[in-house]
Amino acid sequence: MERSSVFCVHMSLKQRYIFLLCLVGGTIITYELTRSFPETRRMDRVEGLRALSPQFTLEKKPLRILGGSIHYFRVPRAYWEDRLLKMKACGVNTLTTYVPWNLHEPERGVFNFEGDLDIEAYLHLAANLGLWVILRPGPYICAEWELGGLPSWLLRDEKMKLRTTYLGFTDAVNSFFDRLLKKVVPLQYTMGGPIIAFQVENEYGAYATDEQYMLFTKEALLSRGITELLVTSDGRDGQGRGGVKGALETINFQKLHPEHVKFLDEIQPERPKMVMEYWSGWFDTWEGLHHVFPAEQMTGVVEEILKMDMSINIYMFHGGTNFGFLNGGVDFGRPVAKPIITSYDYDAPLSEAGDYTTKYHLLRNLFSRYHTEPLPELPSLQERKAYQPAVIHKHLSLWDSLQFTDKPFKSEKPVNMENLPLNNNNGQSYGYTLYETTITAGGVLNSQNNVRDRALVFVDKQFVGVLDFKTHEFALPDGEGKRTLGLLVENSGRVNYGKVLDEQRKGLVGDILLNKHTLRDFIIHSLEMKPDFVNRLESSGHWMSMRHQPSFPGFFQAKLHVDGSPKDTFMKLDGWTKGVVFINGKNLGRYWTVGPQQTLYVPAPWLHRGDNQVIVFEEQKTDGKIQFTTSPDYGMTVDVQ
Ligand code: GLA
Repeated sequence: MERSSVFCVHMSLKQRYIFLLCLVGGTIITYELTRSFPETRRMDRVEGLRALSPQFTLEKKPLRILGGSIHYFRVPRAYWEDRLLKMKACGVNTLTTYVPWNLHEPERGVFNFEGDLDIEAYLHLAANLGLWVILRPGPYICAEWELGGLPSWLLRDEKMKLRTTYLGFTDAVNSFFDRLLKKVVPLQYTMGGPIIAFQVENEYGAYATDEQYMLFTKEALLSRGITELLVTSDGRDGQGRGGVKGALETINFQKLHPEHVKFLDEIQPERPKMVMEYWSGWFDTWEGLHHVFPAEQMTGVVEEILKMDMSINIYMFHGGTNFGFLNGGVDFGRPVAKPIITSYDYDAPLSEAGDYTTKYHLLRNLFSRYHTEPLPELPSLQERKAYQPAVIHKHLSLWDSLQFTDKPFKSEKPVNMENLPLNNNNGQSYGYTLYETTITAGGVLNSQNNVRDRALVFVDKQFVGVLDFKTHEFALPDGEGKRTLGLLVENSGRVNYGKVLDEQRKGLVGDILLNKHTLRDFIIHSLEMKPDFVNRLESSGHWMSMRHQPSFPGFFQAKLHVDGSPKDTFMKLDGWTKGVVFINGKNLGRYWTVGPQQTLYVPAPWLHRGDNQVIVFEEQKTDGKIQFTTSPDYGMTVDVQ
């Protein structure tokens, strides 16, 4: 590209990502500037991030990466700037984020990069605020995210081998990367954007089933125009097995062991050392405790790492929320899994709702020593409000809601969610599926452990028991004549880490027995609870007033009245048991009395002045109101071990 100094316009000094229009002999050429380069950058001469000496260099100048992870898909778009500004004010110079394939390609060949998923806008914002970016595009991301970010439609293929060079997988990756990388190639550092490095896959060393796979993934990036530094990252389980030639290996940990550093020194002498995921806290699973990692301990380790001249990325700097049905699960030995809770607070320096914590202040203190300029002032906090309780005024039973779902599907045998003929043949990804069949006797109902993950069992719409990983059989009450047996199966979140990814099909994954006879002839209703369903439900005339006894499971409606401009709040469902909440059509995520989490984060940008529509899907019981509070309750705590 030719360069001319004929005419340059600086839009504003503070504006960090500016386009300069330079006229060269009548031709208009676009130059992009970033915070670090107030002078025009000659794109073809810029040297990006290099790892050729013990210290990273950027444009040949030493750079220590002080990174922080914030996932755009766990934060409402309206708050991206707030969270990034707070991260910047802590002294972080680099944003790291994963890319969730399952959200960007909900159906094969159907892509979404809009609104809360507008990754280009997120990266531009980072650039505007003067943050560099390390992008972690997967395709697998782990991250306590449904199936580690892989789309569930991949599992329609019964031979699927995720994270391998199996053609069915690589073809799908290629098609996703064609779309994704087109968007991020122009945002690379040497093209004037903020991205200084790309991570190849994620902790493949702990999976490492296919020797060619990392090469394939690396090539998939290179062949589409990725030219910045490549890195890989591995935890202790996979150290030494997840690298690929041409990419710098980095490590992930929480407590510093000398062998981590020794390992890097041995495999990559005289090259920069980086902790790609320094775990600031930890995640929680339902029925467990809330993990905390003491602030002083955390910053103590960070200080050690920095003293060793290493670069670091705080995972998570701000965790955010697993809105919707997108939480992952933890594998507890085939096929037992524990679902991850809705909050991804992670005990991170910036809390789920964007509050400063002790960790934040200690970290800021520490990071400030690595800056020559004073750090920016702390941005002010978002306001919080404990709204008046919202009273439930209408209900609609699950059975009455079925008319608003897609047409039910008849099948002789049970069909797992992914293979249902729905969503343009992409199956059902998330939510609940109701399997109904006719029975003529009571007796022993046995799931043969084919329920993924939890089924509420009904006879003629009456609840009779639960089948899950722990309970595989129970006695069905006797009764006269033909009765309808219903199994409402919840996908509680596909496992995101471990060797069982290929086994994450949901719903009923095999036969169910009654008195040792295989049940047949099912009617299958899919309850994905996507926004169009929730809207249809809301505007239907079938709701009943609370003067009529509600039946369970059911949907419950309330109005949350907001005077003035909306404020962040936490919802408390005391007196309810388990379900999901939708506010103005947005799925806030699951709640469950077993905890540890007892409140759901409601971000102000999802509310509006006046009446806000709240719909709760509850499995068992209601106390008729929803309460609000100003602070989260994440339950009983336990120190991370
Ligand atoms: C690993 C993964 C991350 C995340 C953390 C735990 O390091 O790479 O995606 O799952 O564990 O929070």
